[in-house]
Amino acid sequence: MMKAKYITVREAMEKGSGIVKVRGWVYRERGSNKMKFIVLRDSSDLIQCVLHREKFERQWEDIDKLQIEASLEIEGEIKKDKRAPTGFEIAVKKIDVVGKSEDFPITKDLNEELLGDRRHLWIRSQKMTAIMKIRSTVFGAIHEYFRGKDFYEHQSPSLLGAAGESGSSVFEVGYFGKKMYLAQTWQLHAEAMMFALEKLYTIAPSFRAEKSHTSRHLTEYWHAEMEEAWTTFLGLQDHAEALLKYTVKEVLKKHREELKILERDLKTLEASAKKKFPRMTYSEALKILESKKKMKVPWGKDLRTIEEDKLSELYDTPIIVTDYPKQVKAFYMKESPDTLEKSEKEKTVQGFDVIGPEGYGELIGASQREEDIEIIKDNLKREGEDLTQYEFYFDTRRYGSIPHGGFGMGVERVIAWICGLKTIKDAIAFPRTASRSSP
Ligand code: 4AD
Ligand code: MG
Repeated sequence: MMKAKYITVREAMEKGSGIVKVRGWVYRERGSNKMKFIVLRDSSDLIQCVLHREKFERQWEDIDKLQIEASLEIEGEIKKDKRAPTGFEIAVKKIDVVGKSEDFPITKDLNEELLGDRRHLWIRSQKMTAIMKIRSTVFGAIHEYFRGKDFYEHQSPSLLGAAGESGSSVFEVGYFGKKMYLAQTWQLHAEAMMFALEKLYTIAPSFRAEKSHTSRHLTEYWHAEMEEAWTTFLGLQDHAEALLKYTVKEVLKKHREELKILERDLKTLEASAKKKFPRMTYSEALKILESKKKMKVPWGKDLRTIEEDKLSELYDTPIIVTDYPKQVKAFYMKESPDTLEKSEKEKTVQGFDVIGPEGYGELIGASQREEDIEIIKDNLKREGEDLTQYEFYFDTRRYGSIPHGGFGMGVERVIAWICGLKTIKDAIAFPRTASRSSP
């Protein structure tokens, strides 16, 4: 007869009775002279296992010494047990210690710094496991959303000759005696590729030399970006909203258990899955801030974190803020048609930010793209950029230029919101920030 196969702890509990074979790691252990209780974890769940000394005389010394995170293979009889942490218990008949573990260096009282140093071990925790499962679903949902709308997945380079977003936060790399830059965005190359694929997206790392220590900034983050031909400004907003809605719905559908482990209040997630996201112009946002929050922002200044947070307090879903002043936004954003006649200082752009609820900040940055080469050149000059590095980009406006647009979504920001995390660092397994570069 074939030997029974190993099944996951979750499958064993679904089976609920009879002999099962499971394997995993010691999550908790306690014992006496006669008995040992082990809570075993695998990637699926936890289960209590009980071992009676009289059945394991020869192995007892090893069993007695088992510590947290030792790896085990177990065979035994599973049954319901109300007292057990997950409602089931395995009476162990056979046990093999696969890998010992002594003095696992994660204990209850570690501060954040030490947990950061021991990140490679801390990621085994229930909390980090729950976040990483949700993260996997978020990535899957982004792919599903775009592929479902007939977008092609496309990859663009990470080593670039010029900054794609803003010179101030770009990482320089030595490249055989010359300088190159780590990509902050795929955008300029994606705009070139758009002429062939029309609808394209990517999920790739982006790099920002952010010195600030905030709960929202990583130096390496995963960036979900899309570029689309023939877009309208409204169509772009619809995509951004639909992508977030789809992602949240997928997580709510698949991860009730993980959200419970994270003690996530579901209010803004459930609201965001259903309700239309409020849309307002930057100028309207300033009026709302003044009337409802007694905050006066002079027209022309960018919204800072504090203002975004105050604004987001008024809503239980993300909000879409459009038509920012041209002077605070990137060189490639298209001037709003109704401000073309105005002075540089009074112009607005067809760009929008999606600002998350509960103070999670800017989740998505988007725009229609400027098509006029001269305007783009003026904008770049004003920012002190070297135009020769942008020649390839100008070609996109020389040969069959069309209306188009796109956006970038910070995947960790979305995960931090969905999971209700205090810091974006926990939305990624091995965070990179100004003060944290290992493990
Ligand atoms: O608003 P950003 O800078 O937009 C762009 O890079 C565009 N070129 C995207 C495009 O149109 N293809 O960045 C997009 C998003 C932000 O809204 C934010 O969610 C995230 O990227 N982001 C960061 N996430 C984590 N850490 C950082 N340091 C981030 N900087 C931006
Ligand atoms: Mg932005």
